[in-house]
Amino acid sequence: MEQTLRFPEGFLWGASTSSHQVEGGQNNDWSAWERLGKVAGGQTSGLACDHWNLFRSDFELAKRLGHTVHRFSIEWSRVEPAEGQWDEAAIGHYQTVARELHQRGIEPFVTLWHFTSPPWLMERGGWESPETVKLFARFARKMAVAMPDARYWMTINEANVYAILSYLIGVWPPEVTSSRRAWRVYRNLIAGHRAAALAVKHNRPDALVGSAHNVIAFEPKRPESSLDRLASRLAATWYNDHWFKQVASTSDFIGLNHYTRQWVKFESLRRPIVPEFGGPHQTDFGWDMYPTGIYRALKSAGRFGRPIYITENGLADHRDQWRQQFIRDYLLEVHRAVTDGVDVRGYLHWSLLDNFEWREGYSKRFGLIEVDFSTQQRTVRPSAEYYAAICRSNSLTVDDHA
Ligand code: GAL
Repeated sequence: MEQTLRFPEGFLWGASTSSHQVEGGQNNDWSAWERLGKVAGGQTSGLACDHWNLFRSDFELAKRLGHTVHRFSIEWSRVEPAEGQWDEAAIGHYQTVARELHQRGIEPFVTLWHFTSPPWLMERGGWESPETVKLFARFARKMAVAMPDARYWMTINEANVYAILSYLIGVWPPEVTSSRRAWRVYRNLIAGHRAAALAVKHNRPDALVGSAHNVIAFEPKRPESSLDRLASRLAATWYNDHWFKQVASTSDFIGLNHYTRQWVKFESLRRPIVPEFGGPHQTDFGWDMYPTGIYRALKSAGRFGRPIYITENGLADHRDQWRQQFIRDYLLEVHRAVTDGVDVRGYLHWSLLDNFEWREGYSKRFGLIEVDFSTQQRTVRPSAEYYAAICRSNSLTVDDHA
Protein backbone atom coordinates (compact mmCIF):
# COMPACT_ATOMS: atom_id res chain seq x y z
CA MET A 1 0.00 0.00 0.00
CA GLU A 2 1.20 3.45 -0.88
CA GLN A 3 0.84 6.37 1.41
CA THR A 4 1.16 10.07 0.54
CA LEU A 5 2.54 12.34 3.22
CA ARG A 6 1.80 16.01 2.68
CA PHE A 7 4.05 18.80 3.93
CA PRO A 8 2.68 22.06 5.33
CA GLU A 9 1.31 24.65 2.90
CA GLY A 10 4.04 26.97 1.63
CA PHE A 11 6.87 24.58 2.58
CA LEU A 12 9.99 25.59 0.60
CA TRP A 13 11.92 23.01 -1.41
CA GLY A 14 15.31 23.43 -3.01
CA ALA A 15 19.07 23.10 -2.67
CA SER A 16 22.11 24.87 -1.23
CA THR A 17 25.53 25.94 -2.46
CA SER A 18 28.34 28.19 -1.22
CA SER A 19 30.37 30.71 -3.18
CA HIS A 20 33.81 29.14 -2.85
CA GLN A 21 32.56 25.69 -3.71
CA VAL A 22 30.80 26.59 -6.97
CA GLU A 23 31.76 30.00 -8.33
CA GLY A 24 35.38 29.54 -9.39
CA GLY A 25 38.12 32.17 -9.67
CA GLN A 26 38.48 32.95 -5.96
CA ASN A 27 41.04 35.05 -4.20
CA ASN A 28 40.53 34.28 -0.51
CA ASP A 29 42.24 32.47 2.35
CA TRP A 30 41.14 29.06 1.04
CA SER A 31 42.42 29.57 -2.52
CA ALA A 32 45.77 30.70 -1.06
CA TRP A 33 45.89 27.54 1.07
CA GLU A 34 45.00 25.36 -1.91
CA ARG A 35 47.97 26.79 -3.80
CA LEU A 36 50.22 25.39 -1.06
CA GLY A 37 49.15 21.90 -2.16
CA LYS A 38 47.06 21.25 0.94
CA VAL A 39 43.99 19.70 -0.71
CA ALA A 40 43.74 16.01 -1.60
CA GLY A 41 45.81 15.25 -4.69
CA GLY A 42 47.11 18.83 -4.81
CA GLN A 43 43.81 20.02 -6.29
CA THR A 44 42.77 23.66 -6.31
CA SER A 45 39.23 24.99 -6.52
CA GLY A 46 40.15 26.73 -9.80
CA LEU A 47 37.12 27.30 -12.00
CA ALA A 48 34.94 25.09 -9.77
CA CYS A 49 31.49 24.84 -11.44
CA ASP A 50 32.04 28.22 -13.14
CA HIS A 51 28.76 29.09 -11.49
CA TRP A 52 29.87 32.74 -11.46
CA ASN A 53 29.14 32.68 -15.20
CA LEU A 54 26.68 29.80 -15.47
CA PHE A 55 24.30 30.73 -12.65
CA ARG A 56 21.40 31.48 -15.00
CA SER A 57 21.41 28.07 -16.66
CA ASP A 58 21.94 26.42 -13.26
CA PHE A 59 18.86 28.27 -11.94
CA GLU A 60 16.93 27.14 -15.01
CA LEU A 61 17.71 23.56 -14.03
CA ALA A 62 16.66 24.22 -10.44
CA LYS A 63 13.39 25.67 -11.69
CA ARG A 64 12.78 22.70 -13.97
CA LEU A 65 13.37 20.46 -10.95
CA GLY A 66 10.56 22.19 -9.06
CA HIS A 67 12.76 24.11 -6.59
CA THR A 68 11.17 27.06 -4.83
CA VAL A 69 14.17 28.09 -2.71
CA HIS A 70 17.90 28.35 -3.34
CA ARG A 71 20.69 29.01 -0.87
CA PHE A 72 23.93 30.67 -1.96
CA SER A 73 26.63 32.66 -0.21
CA ILE A 74 28.25 35.99 -0.91
CA GLU A 75 32.01 35.93 -1.28
CA TRP A 76 33.24 38.68 1.02
CA SER A 77 36.63 38.81 -0.74
CA ARG A 78 34.93 39.73 -4.03
CA VAL A 79 32.70 42.42 -2.58
CA GLU A 80 35.39 44.02 -0.38
CA PRO A 81 38.70 43.07 -2.04
CA ALA A 82 40.60 45.58 0.11
CA GLU A 83 39.48 46.92 3.45
CA GLY A 84 36.77 49.52 3.00
CA GLN A 85 36.88 49.31 -0.81
CA TRP A 86 33.70 48.00 -2.32
CA ASP A 87 33.60 46.35 -5.71
CA GLU A 88 30.35 47.60 -7.20
CA ALA A 89 30.48 45.10 -10.07
CA ALA A 90 30.66 42.19 -7.60
CA ILE A 91 27.78 43.66 -5.58
CA GLY A 92 25.86 44.03 -8.85
CA HIS A 93 26.50 40.38 -9.61
CA TYR A 94 24.85 39.23 -6.39
CA GLN A 95 21.96 41.63 -6.94
CA THR A 96 21.45 39.95 -10.31
CA VAL A 97 21.66 36.49 -8.74
CA ALA A 98 18.86 37.30 -6.27
CA ARG A 99 16.75 38.94 -8.98
CA GLU A 100 17.20 36.05 -11.41
CA LEU A 101 16.11 33.59 -8.73
CA HIS A 102 12.98 35.62 -8.04
CA GLN A 103 12.17 35.81 -11.71
CA ARG A 104 12.09 32.00 -11.72
CA GLY A 105 9.85 31.80 -8.67
CA ILE A 106 12.75 30.74 -6.43
CA GLU A 107 13.23 32.37 -3.00
CA PRO A 108 16.85 33.43 -2.40
CA PHE A 109 18.43 32.38 0.92
CA VAL A 110 21.65 34.34 1.36
CA THR A 111 24.58 33.32 3.56
CA LEU A 112 26.99 36.12 4.42
CA TRP A 113 29.95 34.00 5.52
CA HIS A 114 30.53 30.40 4.50
CA PHE A 115 34.06 29.54 5.72
CA THR A 116 36.10 31.81 3.40
CA SER A 117 37.59 35.21 4.20
CA PRO A 118 39.40 37.97 2.32
CA PRO A 119 43.21 37.72 2.69
CA TRP A 120 43.37 41.26 4.16
CA LEU A 121 41.00 40.18 6.93
CA MET A 122 43.12 37.14 7.75
CA GLU A 123 46.19 39.38 7.97
CA ARG A 124 44.35 41.28 10.67
CA GLY A 125 43.64 38.08 12.58
CA GLY A 126 40.42 36.88 10.92
CA TRP A 127 37.83 35.69 13.43
CA GLU A 128 40.42 35.70 16.21
CA SER A 129 40.18 39.47 16.21
CA PRO A 130 37.20 41.32 17.74
CA GLU A 131 37.65 43.91 14.96
CA THR A 132 36.30 41.31 12.53
CA VAL A 133 32.94 41.46 14.30
CA LYS A 134 32.56 45.13 13.34
CA LEU A 135 33.90 44.65 9.83
CA PHE A 136 31.49 41.77 9.31
CA ALA A 137 28.52 43.84 10.49
CA ARG A 138 29.52 46.58 8.04
CA PHE A 139 29.71 44.04 5.18
CA ALA A 140 26.32 42.59 6.23
CA ARG A 141 24.67 46.01 6.24
CA LYS A 142 26.15 46.86 2.83
CA MET A 143 24.78 43.69 1.23
CA ALA A 144 21.38 43.72 2.94
CA VAL A 145 20.79 47.26 1.68
CA ALA A 146 22.10 46.41 -1.79
CA MET A 147 19.92 43.32 -2.22
CA PRO A 148 16.26 44.18 -1.62
CA ASP A 149 15.25 41.03 -3.55
CA ALA A 150 16.64 38.85 -0.78
CA ARG A 151 14.49 38.47 2.31
CA TYR A 152 16.16 35.55 4.09
CA TRP A 153 19.64 36.17 5.47
CA MET A 154 21.99 33.78 7.18
CA THR A 155 24.91 35.37 8.97
CA ILE A 156 27.38 32.55 9.69
CA ASN A 157 27.62 29.03 8.34
CA GLU A 158 28.61 26.36 10.87
CA ALA A 159 30.66 28.25 13.45
CA ASN A 160 31.26 24.95 15.26
CA VAL A 161 32.72 23.20 12.21
CA TYR A 162 34.98 26.15 11.40
CA ALA A 163 36.28 26.66 14.94
CA ILE A 164 37.06 22.95 15.28
CA LEU A 165 38.57 22.20 11.86
CA SER A 166 40.47 25.47 11.40
CA TYR A 167 41.53 26.28 14.98
CA LEU A 168 41.24 23.20 17.18
CA ILE A 169 42.42 20.26 15.09
CA GLY A 170 44.00 22.44 12.41
CA VAL A 171 43.12 20.51 9.25
CA TRP A 172 41.69 23.59 7.49
CA PRO A 173 43.38 26.96 7.05
CA PRO A 174 44.92 28.57 9.02
CA GLU A 175 45.84 25.17 10.60
CA VAL A 176 45.87 26.29 14.22
CA THR A 177 45.73 23.69 16.99
CA SER A 178 44.78 25.56 20.13
CA SER A 179 41.64 25.15 22.23
CA ARG A 180 42.11 28.68 23.57
CA ARG A 181 42.23 30.19 20.08
CA ALA A 182 39.38 27.97 18.81
CA TRP A 183 37.20 29.19 21.66
CA ARG A 184 38.07 32.81 20.91
CA VAL A 185 37.13 32.32 17.23
CA TYR A 186 33.86 30.68 18.19
CA ARG A 187 32.99 33.50 20.63
CA ASN A 188 33.74 36.09 17.95
CA LEU A 189 31.55 34.21 15.49
CA ILE A 190 28.69 34.43 17.99
CA ALA A 191 29.34 38.15 18.37
CA GLY A 192 29.60 38.40 14.57
CA HIS A 193 26.21 36.77 14.16
CA ARG A 194 24.63 39.15 16.66
CA ALA A 195 26.21 42.29 15.22
CA ALA A 196 25.35 41.32 11.64
CA ALA A 197 21.78 40.31 12.57
CA LEU A 198 21.19 43.68 14.21
CA ALA A 199 22.77 45.51 11.25
CA VAL A 200 20.57 43.68 8.75
CA LYS A 201 17.37 44.12 10.77
CA HIS A 202 18.05 47.80 11.40
CA ASN A 203 18.52 48.57 7.72
CA ARG A 204 16.05 46.07 6.28
CA PRO A 205 13.08 45.73 8.65
CA ASP A 206 11.46 43.30 6.20
CA ALA A 207 14.41 40.89 6.36
CA LEU A 208 14.38 37.60 8.26
CA VAL A 209 17.70 36.68 9.83
CA GLY A 210 19.17 33.40 11.01
CA SER A 211 22.35 31.36 10.74
CA ALA A 212 23.17 27.86 9.52
CA HIS A 213 24.29 25.48 12.23
CA ASN A 214 25.69 21.97 11.95
CA VAL A 215 24.02 19.43 14.23
CA ILE A 216 25.27 15.87 14.72
CA ALA A 217 23.41 12.93 16.28
CA PHE A 218 25.86 11.84 18.97
CA GLU A 219 25.80 8.38 20.51
CA PRO A 220 28.03 6.76 23.10
CA LYS A 221 30.57 4.45 21.48
CA ARG A 222 30.18 1.93 24.29
CA PRO A 223 26.58 2.34 25.48
CA GLU A 224 27.37 0.38 28.63
CA SER A 225 30.01 2.95 29.63
CA SER A 226 28.68 5.79 31.78
CA LEU A 227 31.70 7.89 30.80
CA ASP A 228 30.94 7.48 27.09
CA ARG A 229 27.32 8.36 27.76
CA LEU A 230 28.41 11.48 29.61
CA ALA A 231 30.88 12.40 26.83
CA SER A 232 28.14 11.99 24.23
CA ARG A 233 25.78 14.27 26.21
CA LEU A 234 28.52 16.86 26.60
CA ALA A 235 29.22 16.74 22.87
CA ALA A 236 25.53 17.43 22.16
CA THR A 237 25.46 20.28 24.66
CA TRP A 238 28.53 22.01 23.26
CA TYR A 239 28.46 21.14 19.59
CA ASN A 240 24.71 21.21 18.96
CA ASP A 241 22.91 23.30 21.55
CA HIS A 242 25.30 26.00 22.66
CA TRP A 243 25.15 28.00 19.41
CA PHE A 244 21.34 27.93 19.36
CA LYS A 245 21.21 29.19 22.94
CA GLN A 246 23.56 32.03 22.09
CA VAL A 247 21.87 33.17 18.87
CA ALA A 248 18.15 32.40 19.37
CA SER A 249 17.25 35.85 20.68
CA THR A 250 18.81 37.49 17.61
CA SER A 251 17.35 35.03 15.08
CA ASP A 252 14.03 34.97 13.24
CA PHE A 253 14.64 31.40 12.15
CA ILE A 254 17.00 28.49 12.65
CA GLY A 255 19.00 27.11 9.73
CA LEU A 256 19.75 23.48 10.48
CA ASN A 257 22.50 21.57 8.67
CA HIS A 258 22.41 17.88 9.40
CA TYR A 259 24.21 14.94 7.83
CA THR A 260 25.09 12.09 10.12
CA ARG A 261 25.79 10.62 13.52
CA GLN A 262 29.03 10.19 15.40
CA TRP A 263 30.13 7.82 18.12
CA VAL A 264 31.67 9.45 21.14
CA LYS A 265 34.22 7.93 23.44
CA PHE A 266 35.66 9.20 26.70
CA GLU A 267 39.40 8.70 26.45
CA SER A 268 40.98 10.62 29.32
CA LEU A 269 40.53 13.85 31.23
CA ARG A 270 42.80 15.49 28.69
CA ARG A 271 40.68 14.13 25.80
CA PRO A 272 37.23 13.68 27.32
CA ILE A 273 35.26 13.80 24.05
CA VAL A 274 36.60 11.75 21.14
CA PRO A 275 34.10 11.55 18.27
CA GLU A 276 34.26 9.04 15.43
CA PHE A 277 32.56 8.86 12.05
CA GLY A 278 31.59 5.52 10.53
CA GLY A 279 28.71 3.15 11.00
CA PRO A 280 26.69 0.54 9.19
CA HIS A 281 25.55 2.54 6.11
CA GLN A 282 28.40 4.69 4.90
CA THR A 283 28.41 7.32 2.17
CA ASP A 284 31.49 7.97 -0.01
CA PHE A 285 32.67 10.19 2.83
CA GLY A 286 32.41 7.38 5.39
CA TRP A 287 29.48 9.14 7.07
CA ASP A 288 26.68 6.97 8.35
CA MET A 289 23.25 7.33 6.76
CA TYR A 290 21.06 7.61 9.82
CA PRO A 291 17.66 9.16 9.00
CA THR A 292 16.50 9.18 12.64
CA GLY A 293 19.27 11.71 13.23
CA ILE A 294 17.36 14.45 11.44
CA TYR A 295 14.26 13.74 13.52
CA ARG A 296 16.31 14.02 16.70
CA ALA A 297 18.00 17.20 15.44
CA LEU A 298 14.65 18.81 14.58
CA LYS A 299 13.04 17.88 17.89
CA SER A 300 16.01 19.28 19.72
CA ALA A 301 16.25 22.50 17.66
CA GLY A 302 12.49 22.94 18.07
CA ARG A 303 13.07 23.71 21.75
CA PHE A 304 14.53 27.08 20.82
CA GLY A 305 11.18 28.42 19.67
CA ARG A 306 12.00 29.53 16.14
CA PRO A 307 10.80 28.27 12.75
CA ILE A 308 13.31 25.85 11.25
CA TYR A 309 14.63 25.57 7.72
CA ILE A 310 16.82 22.58 6.94
CA THR A 311 19.56 24.50 5.16
CA GLU A 312 21.78 21.48 4.36
CA ASN A 313 21.28 17.72 4.21
CA GLY A 314 22.77 15.33 1.71
CA LEU A 315 25.49 12.83 0.95
CA ALA A 316 28.59 12.15 -1.12
CA ASP A 317 27.49 9.45 -3.57
CA HIS A 318 29.27 9.56 -6.91
CA ARG A 319 27.27 6.71 -8.43
CA ASP A 320 23.92 8.09 -7.25
CA GLN A 321 23.35 4.73 -5.68
CA TRP A 322 21.89 5.83 -2.35
CA ARG A 323 20.69 9.40 -2.89
CA GLN A 324 17.07 8.60 -3.72
CA GLN A 325 16.69 6.34 -0.70
CA PHE A 326 18.52 8.87 1.47
CA ILE A 327 16.13 11.64 0.42
CA ARG A 328 13.09 9.45 1.01
CA ASP A 329 14.20 8.16 4.39
CA TYR A 330 15.38 11.52 5.73
CA LEU A 331 12.20 13.25 4.52
CA LEU A 332 10.07 10.61 6.21
CA GLU A 333 11.77 11.64 9.45
CA VAL A 334 11.32 15.34 8.68
CA HIS A 335 7.63 14.64 8.16
CA ARG A 336 7.50 12.77 11.47
CA ALA A 337 8.93 15.83 13.22
CA VAL A 338 6.38 18.08 11.49
CA THR A 339 3.58 15.74 12.60
CA ASP A 340 4.94 16.01 16.15
CA GLY A 341 4.48 19.78 15.93
CA VAL A 342 8.00 20.98 15.07
CA ASP A 343 7.70 24.14 12.97
CA VAL A 344 9.76 23.10 9.92
CA ARG A 345 9.27 25.36 6.92
CA GLY A 346 11.66 24.18 4.26
CA TYR A 347 14.23 21.65 3.09
CA LEU A 348 17.34 22.50 1.10
CA HIS A 349 19.38 19.59 -0.14
CA TRP A 350 23.17 19.82 -0.18
CA SER A 351 23.91 20.38 -2.97
CA LEU A 352 22.44 21.59 -6.24
CA LEU A 353 25.71 20.76 -8.03
CA ASP A 354 28.76 18.58 -7.51
CA ASN A 355 31.31 21.03 -6.15
CA PHE A 356 34.62 21.68 -4.42
CA GLU A 357 34.38 19.80 -1.13
CA TRP A 358 37.01 21.72 0.88
CA ARG A 359 39.97 19.55 1.90
CA GLU A 360 38.67 16.61 -0.15
CA GLY A 361 38.48 18.66 -3.35
CA TYR A 362 36.38 17.33 -6.21
CA SER A 363 36.38 13.70 -5.13
CA LYS A 364 33.22 13.95 -3.05
CA ARG A 365 30.10 14.22 -5.19
CA PHE A 366 27.21 15.82 -3.33
CA GLY A 367 25.23 17.13 -6.32
CA LEU A 368 21.68 16.51 -7.37
CA ILE A 369 23.24 17.55 -10.65
CA GLU A 370 26.46 15.92 -11.81
CA VAL A 371 29.18 18.24 -13.09
CA ASP A 372 31.91 17.25 -15.51
CA PHE A 373 34.63 19.62 -14.35
CA SER A 374 36.58 19.41 -17.60
CA THR A 375 33.67 20.52 -19.81
CA GLN A 376 31.28 22.15 -17.28
CA GLN A 377 28.61 19.82 -18.63
CA ARG A 378 25.67 19.34 -16.24
CA THR A 379 23.76 16.04 -16.03
CA VAL A 380 20.67 15.74 -13.86
CA ARG A 381 20.97 12.63 -11.71
CA PRO A 382 17.99 10.24 -11.41
CA SER A 383 17.70 11.09 -7.70
CA ALA A 384 17.21 14.76 -8.65
CA GLU A 385 14.17 13.77 -10.71
CA TYR A 386 12.85 11.77 -7.77
CA TYR A 387 13.34 14.80 -5.51
CA ALA A 388 11.70 17.04 -8.13
CA ALA A 389 8.45 15.06 -7.85
CA ILE A 390 8.46 15.72 -4.09
CA CYS A 391 9.15 19.43 -4.60
CA ARG A 392 6.36 19.81 -7.17
CA SER A 393 3.73 17.93 -5.19
CA ASN A 394 4.80 19.14 -1.73
CA SER A 395 4.44 15.55 -0.66
CA LEU A 396 6.27 12.30 -0.27
CA THR A 397 4.77 9.05 -1.48
CA VAL A 398 6.06 5.94 0.24
CA ASP A 399 5.34 2.30 0.23
CA ASP A 400 4.09 1.30 3.67
CA HIS A 401 6.57 -1.53 3.68
CA ALA A 402 9.53 0.67 2.71
C1 GAL B 1 28.92 21.38 5.43
C2 GAL B 1 29.36 22.65 4.73
C3 GAL B 1 29.20 22.60 3.24
C4 GAL B 1 29.52 21.25 2.64
C5 GAL B 1 28.89 20.12 3.42
C6 GAL B 1 29.23 18.73 2.92
O1 GAL B 1 29.58 21.26 6.66
O2 GAL B 1 28.62 23.76 5.20
O3 GAL B 1 29.98 23.64 2.71
O4 GAL B 1 30.86 21.12 2.43
O5 GAL B 1 29.24 20.21 4.77
O6 GAL B 1 30.40 18.25 3.49
